[in-house]
Amino acid sequence: MMSVMTLPPGPTAPPALQTLRWVARPVSFIQQARREYGEAFSVSFVGFKAPMVIVSDPELVKAVYSNPANSLPASRRAVLEPILGRKSVILLDGEEHLARRKLMLPAFHGERMRSYQQIMQEAIDREIEPWPIDSAFPIHPRMQAVTLEVILRAVFGVTEDERLTRLRTLLGKTLENSASPGWQMLSLIAGRLGRRAGPPGLAQMLDQVDAELAGLIAERRLDPGLEERTDILSMLIAAEFDDGERMDDAELRDQLMTLLVAGHETTATALAWTFDLVLRDPRVLSHLKAEMADGGDEYLRATITESLRLRPVIPVAGRILDAPLEVDGVRFEAGDNVAPSIWMAHTRADSFPDPFAFKPERFLDDPPETYSWIPFGGGVRRCLGAAFAEFEMRVVLTEVLTRCDLRLAEPEPQRIGHRNITLSPKNGTPVVMSDRIPA
Ligand code: HEM
Repeated sequence: MMSVMTLPPGPTAPPALQTLRWVARPVSFIQQARREYGEAFSVSFVGFKAPMVIVSDPELVKAVYSNPANSLPASRRAVLEPILGRKSVILLDGEEHLARRKLMLPAFHGERMRSYQQIMQEAIDREIEPWPIDSAFPIHPRMQAVTLEVILRAVFGVTEDERLTRLRTLLGKTLENSASPGWQMLSLIAGRLGRRAGPPGLAQMLDQVDAELAGLIAERRLDPGLEERTDILSMLIAAEFDDGERMDDAELRDQLMTLLVAGHETTATALAWTFDLVLRDPRVLSHLKAEMADGGDEYLRATITESLRLRPVIPVAGRILDAPLEVDGVRFEAGDNVAPSIWMAHTRADSFPDPFAFKPERFLDDPPETYSWIPFGGGVRRCLGAAFAEFEMRVVLTEVLTRCDLRLAEPEPQRIGHRNITLSPKNGTPVVMSDRIPA
């Protein structure tokens, strides 16, 4: 039973207007509702069956994330399934979801992950080479190029130039085509009507993507050196579920698209925001450069943690409750849609004093609390690529900041806009490079 009548109050504008505000100015929409209704309020979006309750209290976030029986809101499936496919780990629930997580997790940890350092290093080295001197360019698209390259090489395991060029163009265009939040809203509405909707040409592009990936998977299966290969596709082909079964071709396709969509734009956006914050703050920049010259990375790690706090890339990661829940006088029923707002959780003064200031120091001695700092969501759905993303960010930031003399081209702060599933810098963070040290 839905507890619509007892949910915390929230904005009363019609759902279409709330949706528009959320799409156009996500942070000011949340800010305004927070000012009026406090740290828990209900919003109503077009295409959603029932209100979504936005929350940020770490106790509540913990309660929502730590129950593995909570499931995904239908909105995640409606927006992502047309691109990612039915077997995507990010869209399954229950046993099916856990089985995939268990199989995929080892690829993203320890030695396996560190073996991608060279790929990351080479990708950023090649990327920096043609950057212009003394003329402004937005750094966000450049970071997108790097993170796409890293996924194609480390996850898909592609090294041949011709195939890389084809995939770069095709996947870049497909993702660009599905980036608009407007289309995402339409897919939500269509999903509620049992239909599919997408931008013109997307279906044909996805057919081409499927054909490319089918070719890649077929070839890889026949590779006599499969067991020795270190890319994630090869690992997924070779790995077995607990029952001895392996992923079939259709599922491999879905997991590749999932890793691409979940890992490419997110990491690129996190990098763009980190440049935006660091280049705005000479004190942090010089501290980082001095540490990099000494070969350390403690302050760099704290800077990344702080950047993911102040500019979280994903705005909400919600769940449908499996059982009633009561925390600090707020009561929810089974079936309620409760969404921790990552941005709100990260800007609570009781969790992070002086919450709107960029201060990497706050994380130097104290690692962030699990349910106050949630850029990667939490519980059994916490981002599979979190360690991979932070590692890639360290490699890219170190390379760029030690080799390039960058400054911001626009002094005014970047507005936060919606792009794809992310909150990203509206103008792509334009920068100017005054000098570059050769590789
Ligand atoms: C800074 C970069 C990234 C951010 C901010 C980010 C954020 C997130 C968030 C918020 C979720 C949802 C978690 C939840 O519902 O609790 C998620 C899930 C996921 N992410 Fe990431 N992510 C990043 C990079 C990556 C990378 C590099 C990969 C892989 C190459 C990746 C793969 C995944 C997968 C597979 C899931 C689904 C996990 C599941 O449902 O079990 N992510 N990510």
